[in-house]
Order: sequence, then C-alpha cells, then structure tokens
Amino acid sequence: MISSKKIRKQFIDFFISKQHESVRSSSVVPFDDPTLLFTNAGMNQFKSIFLGDKSPKNNRIVNSQKCIRVSGKHNDLEEVGVDDYHHTFFEMLGNWSFGDYYKSEAIRWAWELLTDIWKLDKERLWVSVYKDDEETKNIWINETDIDKNRILKFGKKDNFWEMGEIGPCGPCTEIHYFHGKNIKNQKASGVNSDPLYREVWNLVFIQYNRDDKGTLNDLPQKHVDTGLGLERIVGILNSTPSNYDTDLFMPIIKSIEEITHRKYDKKHGVSHRVIADHIRMLCFA
Ligand code: SER
Repeated sequence: MISSKKIRKQFIDFFISKQHESVRSSSVVPFDDPTLLFTNAGMNQFKSIFLGDKSPKNNRIVNSQKCIRVSGKHNDLEEVGVDDYHHTFFEMLGNWSFGDYYKSEAIRWAWELLTDIWKLDKERLWVSVYKDDEETKNIWINETDIDKNRILKFGKKDNFWEMGEIGPCGPCTEIHYFHGKNIKNQKASGVNSDPLYREVWNLVFIQYNRDDKGTLNDLPQKHVDTGLGLERIVGILNSTPSNYDTDLFMPIIKSIEEITHRKYDKKHGVSHRVIADHIRMLCFA
C-alpha cells in the first residue's frame, strides 16, 4: 500500500523539481469572495492574480488545496457514497503558472508524472480536449507518446472550465483512467459517460474572464491551473477503484463499524461511505 501522505509528497516534490514553490492550502471557507460559500477549487485563492489585480510572489507554485463541493456550479453531493469517487470534501493537487509556462509544459509534466514516475499504464489513460482547441490536441500528439486514438474532443460542458457564473475561465484538457478489469474492453464512448473511466487530472488554461453579462474577456496574461484529485490518484496507485478503500477513508470506516456494530459492505455500504465522507468534510469546515 502506498500511503496518501507519500503520494501527496511525490506530487509536490515533482513540481518543486520543476522550479515551483510549494504553498499551503487556503481555508475551505473563503474570507474575501462573496461569490463562494466554500472553496470549490484550487484556483479560488488565486482569482485576483488571474484577473491581474494582484502580483504573485512566485509565478510557479504547487499545492494541495482542500475543497468542498456541496452547492453552486460544482456540486457533487448527490453522487457521494452512491459511487466510489465523488466527495463533498477532497484535496486537489495542483501546479500553477501565473503568466509563466503554458499548455506545452503543463501537458508534458502531467504525462511525465503519471507515466514515468508513477508508471501508470498508458493503455488505460485517455485524454479529452476542448472541441475548438487544436493547439492542445497537437501538443498531446507531438510532445507526448500518447496514442492519438486516445485523444477525444468534447464540448463546453466537459472541457471548458469555469469557477462559477462569473470569473476566470478557459479551455481544459482532462486525463481519464480506465478502472475496468480487462484493458481490451475499452471504448472511446466510455469516456465522460461510463463510471469505469474516471477523470483524474484537469489541466485548465485560464485565459478569459467571464463578466456578469456572460461575455468572455481576454485576461492580461495566460495562466495554468491544474487539479489532480488526491483521493482518486491514491485509489489508482493502490489499484483500487474505490477511494473508500484507501488510507484516507478506511480508518474512519473502521471507527464507524465499531461505533455502530455494522460491518462495512462494499456493495451496499452507501451509509458508511456517506458518513465517512461527511465527517471528513465537517471536520475541515
Ligand atoms: N480548476 C480546475 C478544477 O477545479 C482545475 O484545478 O477542476
């Protein structure tokens, strides 16, 4: 078993080796953003940098941001516990460029970490890109060794990331992992539809600000905002499709078993999963 602590550190250390500064997560309750109840993404605390209102101390940083998604534009509440991989509270591992590197480095480094360092099977990885973003598709084809048949185009719903109704946003490219038993059973139509194909890492290219009239305005600079779900990558690296079978949840589930005298049944264990998830979220909130 590789611990979540070790995996978090491997991510941070990888980006430190690419000249990023490691910074702490911000609070899950934003202090100065009236558009958000909870921090729902790593980029929340950097909004004023993206908008050009504040200068960053360092233009490359890496962090693990604590996030809560229970309301608003990004709301996973109904999925929690019913499936194995949505949570009200989760950690988002992220590398950031504020007007520094852009698509090429972000894509190459993500691929390097997943396939060279963590040695994920390339035959289980899929990539989605925004339908109009040929540049990103070409970077995947020309600068990584991904099989080009595993690069798929999707529309705004899946590959254009926005923090909320207004704010910084841009096209994204997502990396998905196939959790099925037999790699021969994969098909492109499973991505973004079949829960066996899961998004693990989202690379967002922040280049617009959507204003309150819905118009996209160019930002003064282009930025990179990536989010890799810690709970999901810990599941993958421990070869378990369920995030609940990792060291991030099992100790809590064991306590629930002891207190309730009810064994956790992986197949029908929605209640154990929901309680474990919500306890984690409430502790951090
Ligand atoms: N902002 C993107 C997300 O939340 C990537 O970090 O998915």
